[in-house]
Amino acid sequence: MKRVITYGTFDLLHYGHINLLKRAKALGDYLIVAVSTDEFNAIKGKKSYFPYEQRKALVEAIRYVDLVIPEENWDQKIKDVHEYNVDVFVIGDDWKGKFDYLEKEGVEVVYLGRTPEISTTQIKEELKK
Ligand code: CTP
Repeated sequence: MKRVITYGTFDLLHYGHINLLKRAKALGDYLIVAVSTDEFNAIKGKKSYFPYEQRKALVEAIRYVDLVIPEENWDQKIKDVHEYNVDVFVIGDDWKGKFDYLEKEGVEVVYLGRTPEISTTQIKEELKK
């Protein structure tokens, strides 16, 4: 069984997220999604609209997703890929090159093209207008 992992905040879930998760699942058989906790978002200087437990429940309800785990810091990826026997690490190409170091752990690293013209930040800004 090929195991895939991805990371993100997934706030105000939108079709760009669904598209990413669908393509991530298609790269293997079992998809793990590490959802950023509120504490980790604070470290990143981000504040989500929905708290972690609600974002987690939304992501868990997506048919492509098999398991949701918390993303609590920048350094957990090496531990995660071994703990969950991950074969493929996947993330949007806004992160291109940033996680190539995981190849040394025996993991295939894939950057997927982002869905154009949608992001959580954009939704928030448009609703403010
Ligand atoms: N993503 C994507 N296409 C989009 C938006 C997001 O493929 N249009 C991907 C990101 O590249 C990442 C995952 O979805 O792999 C989770 O992204 P996240 O940062 O939670 O969503 P954004 O909408 O990019 O949020 P923000 O505007 O706060 O950065």
